[in-house]
Amino acid sequence: MSDLLGIADLDRPTLEMILGLSARADLGRPLAGQGVALVFQKPSARTRNSMEMAVAGLGGHPVYITDAEVGLGSGRESPADVARTLACFHSLIAARVFHHEVLQQMAAAADAPVLNLLSDRAHPLQTLADLLTLHERFGRLEGLRVAYVGDGDNNVARSLAAGCVRLGAHLAIAAPVGSHLSAADLAELNSHAGCVTQTVDPAEAVAGAQAVYTDTWISMGQEGEAQSRRAIFEGYQVDPALMARAAPQAVFLHCLPAHRGEEVAPEVLDGPQSLVWTQARNRMRSARGALAWMLGVPA
Ligand code: CP
Ligand code: NVA
Repeated sequence: MSDLLGIADLDRPTLEMILGLSARADLGRPLAGQGVALVFQKPSARTRNSMEMAVAGLGGHPVYITDAEVGLGSGRESPADVARTLACFHSLIAARVFHHEVLQQMAAAADAPVLNLLSDRAHPLQTLADLLTLHERFGRLEGLRVAYVGDGDNNVARSLAAGCVRLGAHLAIAAPVGSHLSAADLAELNSHAGCVTQTVDPAEAVAGAQAVYTDTWISMGQEGEAQSRRAIFEGYQVDPALMARAAPQAVFLHCLPAHRGEEVAPEVLDGPQSLVWTQARNRMRSARGALAWMLGVPA
Protein backbone atom coordinates (compact mmCIF):
# COMPACT_ATOMS: atom_id res chain seq x y z
CA MET A 1 0.00 0.00 0.00
CA SER A 2 1.45 3.37 -1.04
CA ASP A 3 0.66 7.04 -0.42
CA LEU A 4 0.20 9.30 -3.43
CA LEU A 5 0.88 12.90 -2.40
CA GLY A 6 2.49 14.24 -5.58
CA ILE A 7 3.83 13.31 -9.01
CA ALA A 8 7.16 14.69 -7.76
CA ASP A 9 7.37 11.73 -5.33
CA LEU A 10 7.17 9.16 -8.16
CA ASP A 11 9.86 7.79 -10.43
CA ARG A 12 9.20 7.27 -14.13
CA PRO A 13 8.37 3.53 -14.00
CA THR A 14 5.88 4.14 -11.19
CA LEU A 15 4.22 7.01 -13.06
CA GLU A 16 4.00 4.83 -16.17
CA MET A 17 2.52 2.00 -14.10
CA ILE A 18 -0.21 4.28 -12.71
CA LEU A 19 -0.99 5.58 -16.20
CA GLY A 20 -1.13 1.99 -17.46
CA LEU A 21 -3.60 1.07 -14.72
CA SER A 22 -5.60 4.23 -15.49
CA ALA A 23 -5.94 3.18 -19.13
CA ARG A 24 -7.27 -0.29 -18.19
CA ALA A 25 -11.01 -0.87 -18.42
CA ASP A 26 -11.20 -3.62 -15.78
CA LEU A 27 -9.34 -3.30 -12.51
CA GLY A 28 -11.52 -5.74 -10.57
CA ARG A 29 -12.94 -4.93 -7.14
CA PRO A 30 -9.90 -4.39 -4.92
CA LEU A 31 -11.99 -2.22 -2.56
CA ALA A 32 -14.82 -4.75 -2.12
CA GLY A 33 -16.47 -4.17 1.24
CA GLN A 34 -14.09 -1.36 2.20
CA GLY A 35 -14.50 2.32 2.92
CA VAL A 36 -12.59 5.29 1.47
CA ALA A 37 -12.64 8.62 3.33
CA LEU A 38 -12.82 11.69 1.07
CA VAL A 39 -12.02 14.79 3.14
CA PHE A 40 -12.52 18.21 1.50
CA GLN A 41 -11.28 21.50 2.97
CA LYS A 42 -12.19 23.23 -0.32
CA PRO A 43 -14.99 22.84 -2.87
CA SER A 44 -14.77 20.38 -5.74
CA ALA A 45 -16.91 19.21 -8.66
CA ARG A 46 -14.60 17.00 -10.74
CA THR A 47 -12.42 15.54 -8.02
CA ARG A 48 -15.24 14.66 -5.67
CA ASN A 49 -17.45 13.09 -8.31
CA SER A 50 -14.70 11.21 -10.13
CA MET A 51 -13.35 9.84 -6.83
CA GLU A 52 -16.76 8.76 -5.52
CA MET A 53 -17.53 6.96 -8.76
CA ALA A 54 -14.04 5.44 -8.95
CA VAL A 55 -14.27 4.08 -5.40
CA ALA A 56 -17.71 2.62 -6.11
CA GLY A 57 -16.44 1.12 -9.38
CA LEU A 58 -13.65 -0.68 -7.51
CA GLY A 59 -16.21 -2.15 -5.12
CA GLY A 60 -15.69 0.27 -2.23
CA HIS A 61 -17.84 2.71 -0.29
CA PRO A 62 -16.87 6.42 -0.49
CA VAL A 63 -17.66 8.67 2.46
CA TYR A 64 -17.62 12.40 1.69
CA ILE A 65 -16.44 14.44 4.67
CA THR A 66 -16.26 18.23 4.83
CA ASP A 67 -13.90 20.06 7.15
CA ALA A 68 -16.93 21.01 9.26
CA GLU A 69 -16.85 17.40 10.57
CA VAL A 70 -13.14 16.88 11.09
CA GLY A 71 -11.84 20.42 11.64
CA LEU A 72 -8.42 20.15 9.99
CA GLY A 73 -8.51 23.91 9.50
CA SER A 74 -9.95 24.86 12.88
CA GLY A 75 -7.52 22.87 14.97
CA ARG A 76 -10.37 20.82 16.48
CA GLU A 77 -8.14 17.77 16.11
CA SER A 78 -4.62 17.41 14.74
CA PRO A 79 -4.21 16.12 11.15
CA ALA A 80 -2.44 13.08 12.62
CA ASP A 81 -5.37 12.25 14.91
CA VAL A 82 -7.91 12.85 12.14
CA ALA A 83 -5.98 10.39 9.95
CA ARG A 84 -5.67 7.80 12.75
CA THR A 85 -9.40 8.09 13.37
CA LEU A 86 -10.36 7.70 9.71
CA ALA A 87 -8.01 4.72 9.35
CA CYS A 88 -10.15 2.91 11.97
CA PHE A 89 -12.98 2.78 9.43
CA HIS A 90 -11.43 3.19 5.99
CA SER A 91 -8.85 1.36 3.86
CA LEU A 92 -7.70 4.58 2.21
CA ILE A 93 -7.82 8.28 3.11
CA ALA A 94 -8.04 10.95 0.43
CA ALA A 95 -7.96 14.66 1.23
CA ARG A 96 -8.11 18.09 -0.45
CA VAL A 97 -6.26 20.52 1.83
CA PHE A 98 -4.91 24.06 1.95
CA HIS A 99 -1.47 23.10 3.21
CA HIS A 100 0.49 20.18 1.73
CA GLU A 101 2.13 19.60 5.13
CA VAL A 102 -1.27 18.49 6.47
CA LEU A 103 -1.24 15.58 4.00
CA GLN A 104 2.30 14.69 5.03
CA GLN A 105 1.28 14.66 8.70
CA MET A 106 -1.74 12.48 7.90
CA ALA A 107 0.37 10.07 5.85
CA ALA A 108 2.98 9.78 8.59
CA ALA A 109 0.36 8.98 11.23
CA ALA A 110 -2.20 6.76 9.50
CA ASP A 111 -2.02 3.02 8.87
CA ALA A 112 -4.06 3.60 5.69
CA PRO A 113 -2.48 5.07 2.54
CA VAL A 114 -3.16 8.78 1.88
CA LEU A 115 -4.09 10.31 -1.50
CA ASN A 116 -3.77 14.01 -2.37
CA LEU A 117 -7.00 15.40 -3.87
CA LEU A 118 -5.26 18.84 -4.34
CA SER A 119 -3.06 20.87 -2.03
CA ASP A 120 -1.39 24.25 -2.39
CA ARG A 121 1.62 22.44 -3.85
CA ALA A 122 0.30 19.60 -6.00
CA HIS A 123 -2.68 18.19 -7.92
CA PRO A 124 -1.48 14.72 -8.94
CA LEU A 125 -4.85 13.32 -10.05
CA GLN A 126 -5.27 16.22 -12.46
CA THR A 127 -1.83 15.63 -13.95
CA LEU A 128 -2.52 11.92 -14.40
CA ALA A 129 -5.67 12.83 -16.38
CA ASP A 130 -3.73 15.43 -18.38
CA LEU A 131 -0.98 12.94 -19.27
CA LEU A 132 -3.60 10.34 -20.27
CA THR A 133 -5.30 12.94 -22.46
CA LEU A 134 -2.04 13.94 -24.17
CA HIS A 135 -1.01 10.32 -24.66
CA GLU A 136 -4.36 9.47 -26.22
CA ARG A 137 -4.08 12.42 -28.62
CA PHE A 138 -0.41 12.19 -29.60
CA GLY A 139 0.41 8.53 -28.86
CA ARG A 140 3.46 9.55 -26.81
CA LEU A 141 4.77 12.07 -24.29
CA GLU A 142 8.43 11.69 -25.21
CA GLY A 143 9.53 14.77 -27.12
CA LEU A 144 6.10 16.45 -26.93
CA ARG A 145 6.16 20.26 -26.65
CA VAL A 146 3.72 21.61 -24.07
CA ALA A 147 3.28 25.29 -23.11
CA TYR A 148 1.76 26.50 -19.85
CA VAL A 149 0.63 30.14 -19.71
CA GLY A 150 -0.39 31.96 -16.51
CA ASP A 151 0.31 31.16 -12.87
CA GLY A 152 3.49 29.13 -13.29
CA ASP A 153 3.94 28.51 -9.60
CA ASN A 154 0.63 26.90 -8.65
CA ASN A 155 -0.38 23.31 -7.86
CA VAL A 156 -1.47 22.44 -11.40
CA ALA A 157 1.64 23.92 -13.07
CA ARG A 158 4.00 22.23 -10.63
CA SER A 159 2.38 18.82 -11.04
CA LEU A 160 2.23 19.16 -14.81
CA ALA A 161 5.93 20.02 -14.86
CA ALA A 162 6.77 16.99 -12.70
CA GLY A 163 4.75 14.72 -15.01
CA CYS A 164 6.10 16.13 -18.27
CA VAL A 165 9.77 15.85 -17.34
CA ARG A 166 9.40 12.28 -16.08
CA LEU A 167 7.94 11.21 -19.42
CA GLY A 168 10.40 13.11 -21.59
CA ALA A 169 8.18 16.04 -22.63
CA HIS A 170 9.30 19.68 -22.90
CA LEU A 171 7.26 22.19 -20.87
CA ALA A 172 7.66 25.91 -21.63
CA ILE A 173 6.13 28.07 -18.89
CA ALA A 174 5.14 31.71 -19.55
CA ALA A 175 4.40 33.57 -16.33
CA PRO A 176 4.93 37.06 -14.93
CA VAL A 177 7.90 37.74 -12.69
CA GLY A 178 7.05 36.41 -9.23
CA SER A 179 5.03 33.46 -10.57
CA HIS A 180 7.97 31.42 -11.79
CA LEU A 181 9.42 28.24 -10.32
CA SER A 182 12.55 28.76 -8.23
CA ALA A 183 15.99 28.03 -9.65
CA ALA A 184 16.24 25.03 -7.32
CA ASP A 185 12.89 23.63 -8.49
CA LEU A 186 13.90 24.17 -12.11
CA ALA A 187 17.23 22.38 -11.57
CA GLU A 188 15.46 19.39 -10.00
CA LEU A 189 12.91 19.23 -12.83
CA ASN A 190 15.67 19.41 -15.43
CA SER A 191 17.44 16.41 -13.90
CA HIS A 192 14.78 14.14 -15.48
CA ALA A 193 14.26 12.98 -19.08
CA GLY A 194 12.33 16.03 -20.29
CA CYS A 195 12.93 19.71 -19.62
CA VAL A 196 11.23 22.85 -18.34
CA THR A 197 11.98 26.39 -19.53
CA GLN A 198 10.54 29.65 -18.19
CA THR A 199 9.88 33.02 -19.80
CA VAL A 200 7.71 36.07 -19.20
CA ASP A 201 6.58 36.03 -22.84
CA PRO A 202 3.50 33.89 -23.71
CA ALA A 203 4.27 34.12 -27.45
CA GLU A 204 7.74 32.67 -26.88
CA ALA A 205 6.39 29.79 -24.74
CA VAL A 206 3.65 28.72 -27.16
CA ALA A 207 5.75 29.00 -30.36
CA GLY A 208 5.43 25.58 -32.00
CA ALA A 209 3.78 23.99 -28.93
CA GLN A 210 1.57 20.95 -29.54
CA ALA A 211 -0.48 21.61 -26.39
CA VAL A 212 -1.25 24.88 -24.61
CA TYR A 213 -2.37 24.68 -20.98
CA THR A 214 -3.68 27.28 -18.57
CA ASP A 215 -5.33 27.39 -15.13
CA THR A 216 -7.10 30.02 -13.06
CA TRP A 217 -5.18 33.11 -12.00
CA ILE A 218 -6.86 32.92 -8.59
CA SER A 219 -6.54 29.55 -6.92
CA MET A 220 -8.73 28.48 -4.02
CA GLY A 221 -7.54 30.36 -0.95
CA GLN A 222 -6.34 33.38 -2.96
CA GLU A 223 -9.77 35.01 -3.35
CA GLY A 224 -8.71 37.95 -1.15
CA GLU A 225 -6.01 38.87 -3.68
CA ALA A 226 -8.30 38.52 -6.71
CA GLN A 227 -8.06 42.14 -7.84
CA SER A 228 -4.28 42.40 -7.66
CA ARG A 229 -3.81 38.97 -9.24
CA ARG A 230 -6.03 39.92 -12.23
CA ALA A 231 -3.73 42.92 -12.77
CA ILE A 232 -0.58 40.79 -12.46
CA PHE A 233 -1.77 38.23 -15.02
CA GLU A 234 -3.26 40.67 -17.53
CA GLY A 235 -1.65 39.85 -20.87
CA TYR A 236 -1.46 36.11 -20.06
CA GLN A 237 -4.86 35.16 -21.48
CA VAL A 238 -4.87 32.25 -23.92
CA ASP A 239 -6.81 33.75 -26.84
CA PRO A 240 -7.12 32.81 -30.54
CA ALA A 241 -4.11 34.99 -31.48
CA LEU A 242 -1.91 33.17 -28.98
CA MET A 243 -3.20 29.74 -30.08
CA ALA A 244 -2.34 30.71 -33.67
CA ARG A 245 1.33 30.85 -32.66
CA ALA A 246 1.26 27.21 -31.49
CA ALA A 247 1.64 24.20 -33.83
CA PRO A 248 -1.16 23.89 -36.42
CA GLN A 249 -2.83 20.90 -34.72
CA ALA A 250 -2.20 22.16 -31.18
CA VAL A 251 -4.70 21.28 -28.46
CA PHE A 252 -5.88 23.47 -25.60
CA LEU A 253 -5.99 22.09 -22.05
CA HIS A 254 -7.46 23.47 -18.79
CA CYS A 255 -8.04 21.61 -15.54
CA LEU A 256 -11.31 23.55 -14.93
CA PRO A 257 -13.06 25.40 -13.45
CA ALA A 258 -12.35 27.99 -16.16
CA HIS A 259 -13.00 31.72 -16.21
CA ARG A 260 -13.92 32.82 -19.72
CA GLY A 261 -12.47 36.25 -20.44
CA GLU A 262 -9.77 35.91 -17.77
CA GLU A 263 -7.14 33.19 -18.26
CA VAL A 264 -8.84 31.91 -21.44
CA ALA A 265 -10.93 33.45 -24.20
CA PRO A 266 -14.32 31.75 -24.73
CA GLU A 267 -13.46 31.06 -28.40
CA VAL A 268 -10.52 28.92 -27.26
CA LEU A 269 -12.16 27.14 -24.33
CA ASP A 270 -15.24 26.28 -26.37
CA GLY A 271 -13.46 25.96 -29.72
CA PRO A 272 -12.38 22.96 -31.82
CA GLN A 273 -8.86 22.76 -30.35
CA SER A 274 -10.15 22.42 -26.78
CA LEU A 275 -9.81 19.03 -25.06
CA VAL A 276 -11.05 20.22 -21.67
CA TRP A 277 -14.03 17.85 -21.52
CA THR A 278 -11.83 14.89 -22.48
CA GLN A 279 -9.56 15.91 -19.61
CA ALA A 280 -12.54 16.08 -17.25
CA ARG A 281 -13.75 12.62 -18.35
CA ASN A 282 -10.24 11.25 -17.87
CA ARG A 283 -10.32 12.32 -14.22
CA MET A 284 -12.32 9.19 -13.40
CA ARG A 285 -9.87 6.92 -15.19
CA SER A 286 -6.92 8.51 -13.39
CA ALA A 287 -8.76 8.24 -10.08
CA ARG A 288 -9.26 4.49 -10.67
CA GLY A 289 -5.65 4.03 -11.73
CA ALA A 290 -4.30 5.91 -8.73
CA LEU A 291 -6.47 3.99 -6.28
CA ALA A 292 -5.55 0.65 -7.89
CA TRP A 293 -1.83 1.46 -7.65
CA MET A 294 -2.13 2.58 -4.03
CA LEU A 295 -3.92 -0.70 -3.22
CA GLY A 296 -1.22 -2.80 -4.89
CA VAL A 297 -3.21 -3.99 -7.93
CA PRO A 298 -0.58 -5.49 -10.27
CA ALA A 299 0.11 -3.65 -13.54
N1 CP B 1 -9.93 20.20 -11.82
C1 CP B 1 -10.41 20.00 -10.60
O1 CP B 1 -9.74 19.49 -9.69
O2 CP B 1 -11.72 20.37 -10.43
P1 CP B 1 -12.50 20.43 -9.05
O3 CP B 1 -11.89 21.53 -8.22
O4 CP B 1 -13.93 20.71 -9.44
O5 CP B 1 -12.37 19.11 -8.35
N1 NVA C 1 -5.11 26.00 -9.17
C1 NVA C 1 -6.51 25.73 -8.92
C2 NVA C 1 -6.87 24.38 -9.41
C3 NVA C 1 -8.33 24.02 -9.27
C4 NVA C 1 -8.64 22.64 -9.72
C5 NVA C 1 -6.79 25.87 -7.44
O1 NVA C 1 -5.98 25.43 -6.63
O2 NVA C 1 -7.84 26.43 -7.09
